[in-house]
Amino acid sequence: MSKPVQILFTPFRIGNLTLKNRIVMAPMTRSFSRGSVPGDDVTAYYRRRAEGGVGLILSEGVHPNTTTADGTPNVPDIVTPAAKEGWRKVASEVKAAGGAMGLQLWHEGPYRNPAKSAHPDIPSWSASGLKVPDKGPLWAPMTEAEIETAIEEFVAAAVATKEAGFACAEFHGAHSYLIDSFFWDKTNRRTDKWGGDWTGRTRMAAEIIRRTRTKVGPDFPLIIRISQWKQQDFDAKCAETPQEFEQWLAPLADAGIDAFHCSQRRFWEPAFDGSDLNAAGWAKKLTGKPTISVGSVGLSGEFTATYGGEVSKPASLDRLVEMMERGDFDLIAVGRALLQDPQWAEKVRTGRTDELKEFSKDALGVLY
Ligand SMILES: Cc1cc2nc3c(=O)[nH]c(=O)nc-3n(C[C@H](O)[C@H](O)[C@H](O)COP(=O)(O)O)c2cc1C
Repeated sequence: MSKPVQILFTPFRIGNLTLKNRIVMAPMTRSFSRGSVPGDDVTAYYRRRAEGGVGLILSEGVHPNTTTADGTPNVPDIVTPAAKEGWRKVASEVKAAGGAMGLQLWHEGPYRNPAKSAHPDIPSWSASGLKVPDKGPLWAPMTEAEIETAIEEFVAAAVATKEAGFACAEFHGAHSYLIDSFFWDKTNRRTDKWGGDWTGRTRMAAEIIRRTRTKVGPDFPLIIRISQWKQQDFDAKCAETPQEFEQWLAPLADAGIDAFHCSQRRFWEPAFDGSDLNAAGWAKKLTGKPTISVGSVGLSGEFTATYGGEVSKPASLDRLVEMMERGDFDLIAVGRALLQDPQWAEKVRTGRTDELKEFSKDALGVLY
C-alpha cells in the first residue's frame, strides 16, 4: 500500500503568491523555441501542465542576453520584442488554465561553447575563465564592467518576466553556469571583491537579487536555484558543512530572496553527515525561507543517466511524502515525469498510479 499523498496537494504561499499545491514543474531546457522565440507549441506545452494541476511551473532556462548567455540554439530569451511577446502569450495561457508560472533566467557562463553559438567571436563569461578547474582558464576572467553588465542584464530580465505577466522569477545559480561559477571556490579564483570568502563569492548573486527587488517590489517572488553538485563533478560539495552552507545562503536571504530551490539528483540523499536532511531541508532550517527540493521524484533512475539512454521506471512516492510530512521542505519539483506526462500531478492526486509512465530519452524530442 502506498502512503496517502494529501500533503502534496495542500496549498502553500511564497510571499503573497498562493500556490494550489506543492508540485513544481522543474526547469527543463527543451530547445523548441525557434529563433529563441517561444511559439504556439511551447505555449500549449506549458498550458497542458497548468491544466494537469501543477502548482507552480518553472520555465526552461531563458537567456537574459542574446550574446554571452547563449550557447544553445533554439533556447528562448527574454530580451527581443518577439521573445517577450511569445512569453506574454505563455503567461496568459497558463493563467487562463488556472496555473502559476515563473521564468528561470539562465546565463550559460563557462558552459557556453562560443563555437556553437551565434557569436563565436565573443568569449564566454565566468568568474575566472575556468570551465574545468584543473585544466586552466579558457577565457579571461570577467572584468568588473562585465560583471556589472551581467548583473544589470539579470535584473532587466527579471523585470521583463514580471512585465510579461508571470507570477515569479527564478535565477539559475546552479549546475556550474555563470552565477555558480562565482559561488564555487574551485572556479572562482578571484582576489577582488567578487571572489575570496563566501561574502565575495555570493556578491554577484546578492547584487542581482537586491537590485531586482528594488525594481519589482516586495510582492513578486524571487527564487534562486543552487546546487552542491557541479557538471564537472557530481560529488562536489560547494559547501562542506552546514556552517558553510549558511554562509552561502544568508547573503542571498538578506538581499531579499523569497525561496531557495536546491537542486540534487536524488531528493532523498542527505546533504551533510550526521543528519538525513537533504539540501532543501538544510536551507529551510538555516534560513527559515520556503524551499523547493527536486531529484528523481517518481522515477527509478536519475536524470543525467537518462541522457546516456537509461530508462527510468515509475517509483514510489512514499519517501517523498514522509519527508514532506515531517516538514523538511515545502515544495517538490518534478522534472522528467512531467516532461513525459502533463497529467502526472492529476494522476498522482487521484491515485491512478498504474497509469504513470516510464521515462526514456525519446521523450526529449517531443513536446507532449
Ligand atoms: C531535458 C532536461 C533539461 C533540463 N534543463 C534544465 C534547465 O534549463 N535548468 C535547470 O536548472 N535544470 C535543468 N534540468 C534539470 C531539472 O530541472 C531537474 O533538476 C532534473 O531533471 C532532476 O529532476 P527529475 O529527476 O525529476 O527529472 C534539466 C533536466 C532535463 C531532463
